[in-house]
Amino acid sequence: MNILHICANPKPTEESVSKQLSVAFFSALVEKLPDAELNNVDLYQDPPPFFDYPAYRAIWTPLLTPGYTPNKAEKNATAYAVRHAEMFNKADVLVLTMPMWNFGVPAIMKAWMDQVITPNLTFVFEPTEGGGFVTKPLHHIRKIILLVSSGGVYREGDPRDALTACIEAAFGFIGIEDVTIAWADGQNPIAFSDLEERRNTATEAAIEAAEELAQETAPADVSG
Ligand SMILES: Cc1cc2nc3c(=O)[nH]c(=O)nc-3n(C[C@H](O)[C@H](O)[C@H](O)COP(=O)(O)O)c2cc1C
Repeated sequence: MNILHICANPKPTEESVSKQLSVAFFSALVEKLPDAELNNVDLYQDPPPFFDYPAYRAIWTPLLTPGYTPNKAEKNATAYAVRHAEMFNKADVLVLTMPMWNFGVPAIMKAWMDQVITPNLTFVFEPTEGGGFVTKPLHHIRKIILLVSSGGVYREGDPRDALTACIEAAFGFIGIEDVTIAWADGQNPIAFSDLEERRNTATEAAIEAAEELAQETAPADVSG
């Protein structure tokens, strides 16, 4: 199993709740699945560019204006997207580690998504008979594990939670519907007194997610 881990957090692990969730997740996973292939990307070490006009011309103009051939500068502007799409397309599972910032995903994570969720790199548009389209994945990621931390508490369906909504909508668009979340919420010490309990519950959820993943991946027992 190939796991792509994308981490969007500038803090050192000892200061980051979400990064500590990822340590718990990967420790449990490696114990159960020592052969899993891990590909770690720290977005602060390998930062994505903002999606710009040359990249737009290279990726979208040929779709909208058939026959258009991007020039060299336009092609060069897709270098990050191409490199990261290659990693993405090799993965079976995607792990995303991040804090909630301003009710959504950190801008650096959104910039990475804007690079990677790209037609003809990780999915294609396929026309339907009725004149619409469907998206067909070029990747084979079947599951996302989302490891998040936030100061506040947002129960399922809370309209302020734009983070989960963004991840589910964007990756659902390219065929990834299965999202497991371990969320250390209520980490604002001014508002909550049970921070540690909440962190422990989220850590247990991260370990459980790793164990479930290992179980799904383990070869079937044919002994009996
Ligand atoms: C720039 C910034 C924006 C934040 N925005 C939110 C927010 O909208 N909602 C929230 O609940 N917490 C917010 N927080 C608090 C963090 O989500 C919280 O401290 C979290 O535990 C950080 O996770 P980490 O320790 O992995 O970095 C924000 C923190 C920062 C630095």
